[in-house]
Amino acid sequence: VPPPVAPTKVRVWDLPTRVFHWLLLGLIVFSVVSAKIGGNMTIWHMRAGYAVLALLLFRILWGLVGSQSARFASFVKSPFAVFRYLAASFANKAAPIAGHNAAGGYSVLLLLTALLTQAVTGLFIDDEIANQGPLYQKVPASVVSWATRIHHWNENVIYVAVGLHIVAILVYTFVKREPLVKAMVTGEKEWPAAYAKPDLAFRPLWLAVVLICATSAFVYWLVTIFPK
Ligand code: HEM
Ligand code: HEM
Repeated sequence: VPPPVAPTKVRVWDLPTRVFHWLLLGLIVFSVVSAKIGGNMTIWHMRAGYAVLALLLFRILWGLVGSQSARFASFVKSPFAVFRYLAASFANKAAPIAGHNAAGGYSVLLLLTALLTQAVTGLFIDDEIANQGPLYQKVPASVVSWATRIHHWNENVIYVAVGLHIVAILVYTFVKREPLVKAMVTGEKEWPAAYAKPDLAFRPLWLAVVLICATSAFVYWLVTIFPK
């Protein structure tokens, strides 16, 4: 009998991806609360929406040129891979994954798409009372009306996507006993010794800083300078 080997820790999430996640969570909660309060909070709702937009654009770029575990190419798999993964997972035979699993990959895409839809439609919104998005005069009235309807309707898509996300995290934490949340905080996952350690490529922090500055500047330009 070979001696038991203690699991080792491996770094799976880089700092930019983790900061992105927890900032996004805070901003989405704030966006929904400020939208419900309305009134004087609407201006803060819109500002939080701009911050979300800058973050999402950053995440898309990071998904293209960022660290390996954050790249779309490394976690967007075929739908068949989702079934294979889920079958293995239910049978408790899934190998550990240094990143999103095949099902989680689609959940990430759903979350990012729903949130991007919300942030972009917000730019063209017009509630016909007091509040307009910064770009509503730049497009035909029909676009404004569509954007406004989508902004209200897509709220429900966001709740469903976030709800599924949280249920999945709860299942992993309490049923499968995999501390995913801890990994999203510390960046590290326990790696069972029976499996070969993954060798992920990480990108330097300065690249993420450059990208977030660029997307923030772009959004600032889009909502303040461009409309004039
Ligand atoms: C408004 C609420 C939330 C939104 C919009 C959201 C969004 C996201 C997104 C976009 C990702 C993908 C991360 C990436 O690759 O960039 C993600 C992953 C993750 N989220 Fe959330 N999240 C929310 C709430 C939460 C909460 C409340 C928790 C738990 C306390 C949580 C835990 C995690 C974990 C652990 C992952 C990594 C999953 C994995 O290991 O594959 N999220 N979330
Ligand atoms: C991604 C971030 C965003 C989220 C999650 C979000 C969410 C929401 C929700 C849930 C509502 C409906 C509140 C209700 O009446 O029950 C709402 C309304 C509104 N949103 Fe957003 N929004 C976001 C981004 C934006 C942006 C970027 C703008 C504009 C710059 C914006 C402008 C508005 C306005 C003006 C309303 C009020 C519309 C009305 O009273 O009919 N939102 N938002």
